[in-house]
Amino acid sequence: MTEQAPATCFTVNGDTVESGAPLATRLSRVLRDELGLTGTKIGCDAGDCGACTVLVDDVPVCACLTPLAQAEGHQVTTVEGLARDGALSALQEAFQRDGAAQCGICSPGMMMAAHGLLVRNPNPDEDAVMDALGGVLCRCTGYRKIIDAVLDTAGNGLGQLPAAGSAVGAPMAKVDGVAKLKGEEIFGADAAPEDALWLRAVRSPHARARFTLGDLAPLRAAYPGLTALFTAADVPGSNIFGVFPVGKDQPLLADGEVRFRGEAVALLVGERATIEVIRDDDLSIDWTLLDPISDIVAALAEGAALVQAEKPGNLLTKGRVAKGDTDAGFATADFIAEGNFETGFCEHAYIEPEAGWARRVGDRIEIATPTQSPYMDRDECAHVLGIDETQVRIIPTACGGGFGGKLGVSIEPLLAVAAWILDRPVRAAYTRPESMASTTKRHPSRVYARAGCAVDGRLTAFQFHGDFDTGAYASFGPAVASRVPVHATGPYFVPHVLNTAAAIHTNNPPSGAFRGFGVPQCAIAHEALYDELAAKVGVDPLEFRLINAIRKGQETASGQLLEASAGLDQCLEALRPGWRKARAAAAAFNDSSAVLKRGVGIGCMWYGCGNTSVSNPSTMHVGIDGQGRITLYNGAVDLGQGSNTIMVQICADALGVAAGGIGYVMGDTDLTADAGKSSASRQTFISGRAAQLAGENLRGQILRLANAGSDATIEIGDRTITVRDGDATRRIDLGGMVADANGDVLRGEGIFDPPTSPPDDDGQGSPYATYGFAAQFAEVEIDCELGTVRVRRMVAAHDVGRAINPTQLEGQIHGGVAQGLGMALMEEFVQGATENLHDYLIPTVGDVPPIETILIEDREPLGPFGAKGIGEPALIPTPPAIFGAIHHATGVRVRRAPATPHRLRAAIRAAKR
Ligand code: FES
Ligand code: FES
Repeated sequence: MTEQAPATCFTVNGDTVESGAPLATRLSRVLRDELGLTGTKIGCDAGDCGACTVLVDDVPVCACLTPLAQAEGHQVTTVEGLARDGALSALQEAFQRDGAAQCGICSPGMMMAAHGLLVRNPNPDEDAVMDALGGVLCRCTGYRKIIDAVLDTAGNGLGQLPAAGSAVGAPMAKVDGVAKLKGEEIFGADAAPEDALWLRAVRSPHARARFTLGDLAPLRAAYPGLTALFTAADVPGSNIFGVFPVGKDQPLLADGEVRFRGEAVALLVGERATIEVIRDDDLSIDWTLLDPISDIVAALAEGAALVQAEKPGNLLTKGRVAKGDTDAGFATADFIAEGNFETGFCEHAYIEPEAGWARRVGDRIEIATPTQSPYMDRDECAHVLGIDETQVRIIPTACGGGFGGKLGVSIEPLLAVAAWILDRPVRAAYTRPESMASTTKRHPSRVYARAGCAVDGRLTAFQFHGDFDTGAYASFGPAVASRVPVHATGPYFVPHVLNTAAAIHTNNPPSGAFRGFGVPQCAIAHEALYDELAAKVGVDPLEFRLINAIRKGQETASGQLLEASAGLDQCLEALRPGWRKARAAAAAFNDSSAVLKRGVGIGCMWYGCGNTSVSNPSTMHVGIDGQGRITLYNGAVDLGQGSNTIMVQICADALGVAAGGIGYVMGDTDLTADAGKSSASRQTFISGRAAQLAGENLRGQILRLANAGSDATIEIGDRTITVRDGDATRRIDLGGMVADANGDVLRGEGIFDPPTSPPDDDGQGSPYATYGFAAQFAEVEIDCELGTVRVRRMVAAHDVGRAINPTQLEGQIHGGVAQGLGMALMEEFVQGATENLHDYLIPTVGDVPPIETILIEDREPLGPFGAKGIGEPALIPTPPAIFGAIHHATGVRVRRAPATPHRLRAAIRAAKR
């Protein structure tokens, strides 16, 4: 008889607790699974991300690396212990007031690290704060607002709630912020039905192989806790899924052949303890290894093996935009610049790995995961189950970052298949390596570009071809191939253009959507060429861009006339004074410094808001129930970018009530209409417009009921709407009205589909209804002996149309700049080698410099109150600005991203030779 180990006794948030778990159990596991304190988050389970940071006797530790035994007799404090008697701590208030939480998955860890500092040092300076936060990763915020918040704990309150009619333009705090900061927000791994089984996918360790499954009976016999094992043959509907209605090509479970390392080949479902101890190689799988196609060059080589047999030349698809006559344009050019550029894989590295649950409810199924695209998930899950779409309900959980990585389906259909077949709830959480190995990445690219200009600096012609590594399956490859040629010239007027792009299959993980859909890769190329042309002409790089900035009344490369809201010239003019000063300061510094060199570079961008050349509508509803409660039925998923708050602000002003009086439902496909995907910088512009129309629609109904004019004010109270129109006051009794299925007695609807037109054979047309514009400059310091780059400061001017919420816009810009900095200097995913947050480097708090933001408001008539998107635009100009600064400092032109120290050091040495 084994003796029962004594329980471990410690305190958590002041309460004494006991745990009988084995002493080596991770403290994070005890806190989350045994004590239900899910505010402590898991981003890696390996000590790399800091999301699990808690205090043990006021000292921050990673709970995932702390064995339970070490808690014995100690005081543990988690995020749930910060608020006292329901009142937020000063630190939590500062986080909310200053917009320091975006998705919120890192916020508990950040706050615990900061709290530990404040206990030791109540008045820290910025360096002390950065030191304290150095072990916690944030992928959303760019850290600056987090630093500000930790330094701002002497401030008071949560910030002002805007009054009726003044929400748009107000720096309103996030409507979902407090729950995130209290650790109460439910992310994918935080909850599931009580009796849920655990699911894990068995994945291929090989990039390209054929396989046969052996006898699985011994495995079943060896593990009674293994309830089921599913393979491709068990998928009830189609085993093939994909993003687009045509061209679906990705097996849910590989069927005899795997095309990338990490592809799922089987599902294990059962008791969690059992599932976690079964190793992949416990399954009898007979592999026949094949040489993988490892990159674009190999894929395009003569006689290359085909990644997918039915795709000749490993070509997924092509895109093309042609305007004018580029031969003639180059013939008239006085100066020409050209070059080849490469970028590598980038991983989204959201701090929350994919997780969630599914359960069958009669002939329907419910699936709860963090997702950017609930309606696409619904349709794809129905597709693999072979059922009607109306039988699937997607209930998005809070989303701990996405950036495009949670746009394509991943964990959802796996959960759906298991729960549907077993008629038992099933849950799963990807490990960090599984998430990184199996989900989409940014397309690596190989680009050739050529630009010509006249002696006065005006561009005469531009030519571009980019091959994009789309990996083993299509995912969003077609979206990249169609968006790239439109954007490849950059935000400039060029009379003669020939831009082409191709998405090429390899045996790499599928490339998908990642903040920019190929445009960041283009920007690195076109901005480098324009710097070179500016030098040849002899004008300042900023002035060269100002000469060529596309303006209202000019036609884009796709022949689209820009009729409104094209504010690049305003962005550049806003940067000019700081730019000149910074360039002069760098030159002065370099005069007296031999090893350390400083440089200042500029990057510009434009970005079409919405999907390319296709209808992409959003529908929003807003209802009032019999009690007078207002609910926005918001299908636009918030993955941290703040759309929950933005939609409420817009709808409030359109309806004419205070934003604080509007509740919301997000993304539930049974309750909200399709607002499209949270991608392509479309939600503020498209869904925001739909939210505005819904608010206006409801307001119109109320005014008609009250027989009031359009200037009347509306006040919604207990069971009553009071309408004041001049001297007249009228009351609408809500209590006596008939309620719909949601309990609403009045309901407004807004639908907006931005006008676009399909391209002709030359790609001519109007692919987007509007474009965001931006210019950023970077100041860098380079150690020319080590090849290291320190970004000292970023200044970012963005034409956002209208700033619906300046705090959130700044947060988006900060986060985009940080991701752009990572893409420029450190991020490079290597299959099998960097599938964790230790080897795949993303910027830490110490890497992100002060960021100055300048908001330009060139109103977009189609947008809600004039607004456009910001998600993608925030990142795109940063890498070219940093590369321009590197060139300014060293004379070295970066042609391959990331510019890691070893590459830059070699380039500087070669240039010296
Ligand atoms: S979950 Fe513990 S450090 Fe990442
Ligand atoms: S807010 Fe920090 S990871 Fe999202």
